[in-house]
Amino acid sequence: MDLFEKCKGFYSDPAVAQKYGYPTNPRTAQAMGLFPFFIPIDRAEGPEAYIHGKKYIMIGSNNYDGLTNHPKVKEAAIEAVRKYGTSCTGSRFLNGTLDLHIELEGRLAKYVGKEAALVFSTGFQVNLGSIPAIMDRDDIIITDKEVHASIIDGVRMAKSLKNVTVRTYKHNNPADLESVLKALPAGPAKLVIVDGVFSMGGDIAKLSEIIPLCKKYGARFMSDDAHAIGVLGRGRGTGWHFGLQDDVDLVMGTFSKSLASVGGFIAGPKEAVHFIQMFARPFMFSASLPPSNVATVLACLDILEAEPERVERVNKIADRVRTELRGMGYNIGASQTPIIPIVIGDAMKTLEAWNVFFQAGIYTNVALPPSVPPEFSCLRTSYMATHTDEQVDKVLEVFKKVKPLVQIAA
Ligand SMILES: Cc1ncc(COP(=O)(O)O)c(C=O)c1O
Repeated sequence: MDLFEKCKGFYSDPAVAQKYGYPTNPRTAQAMGLFPFFIPIDRAEGPEAYIHGKKYIMIGSNNYDGLTNHPKVKEAAIEAVRKYGTSCTGSRFLNGTLDLHIELEGRLAKYVGKEAALVFSTGFQVNLGSIPAIMDRDDIIITDKEVHASIIDGVRMAKSLKNVTVRTYKHNNPADLESVLKALPAGPAKLVIVDGVFSMGGDIAKLSEIIPLCKKYGARFMSDDAHAIGVLGRGRGTGWHFGLQDDVDLVMGTFSKSLASVGGFIAGPKEAVHFIQMFARPFMFSASLPPSNVATVLACLDILEAEPERVERVNKIADRVRTELRGMGYNIGASQTPIIPIVIGDAMKTLEAWNVFFQAGIYTNVALPPSVPPEFSCLRTSYMATHTDEQVDKVLEVFKKVKPLVQIAA
């Protein structure tokens, strides 16, 4: 078969669309008003976005603390371009380390309360690189079943490079984690990995139960705090939220959400971070984070430290939205954070519901299989500290108005 045959099938074969449960041909989907992906935004102002000149309330962004348009953040990026140019054009190992990278690593380590931190060019690369780097041959990784794709791929890489054994446990279920840990041999080193805040469901990993189990069975513990930084623990992450940060061995975070940039970091004991620095291939063989992105994160940390009320505000908005949506009868799963899914459970019906909200001027994201289990097809909504009360009122008004339509869809 020709290499591109499958691509043509994905584009136009109705049998393929049937397998996925929704039109895979972008033109067909667009004509039906059911293609929520790659929609070009012409102007973005944090809580609002403009598409073909029409204003939408943005409830599909991970800009939790509303910092992407903060004047000090934008100015820091511009100033960095003036001083360092637009790119480092090289790996951190070679010409790609600036004094700014080192400054940011120091600030991040302090912010999350760890000895050292290492900056990568994307959050995805942090997991893809750090996990295989830190594992040794025949070690064991145990993950929650619903961890982010970047952890899954990091684990796959560790399996392929180091022959690690991989076990998963039922989502956020410490009892099941214990049954997995109990059955493992005592010898090999073990690492348990979770999303501190689960990126689709918005629920929080139960660290107060998971960490004692890791200690009991001699496993190290890593939290992916991509959605926890700027949101939980006064912005410092999941371990802080539980008062257990000292027991989180490795913390990863991204800059692409609350920190209004792109990139990511791993933080932990200085020897472990140094080891990852010397062995993580996506760190070694990829160009370093551009200066403007580094400066953006530094400015965001300044603001988060000076204005803790931003973190309080986003959580207050999220509490209100969760309460009201549950009151209206929406299924929002186990959400505890500003990530609030509207679970619909069928791909086509989810796309129809998305269109109802879109027509009403509300921009949401859609999560469909295979990125979520089929029964979890949902609209993924998320909130930011800079949403005004009036914007939240409007969103909730629309949710109320369209409920019968979404119910029909559901
Ligand atoms: C839990 C989690 N980890 C890692 C990543 C990857 O981060 P980035 O998009 O910054 O590469 C994401 C991004 O969506 C995420 O949600």
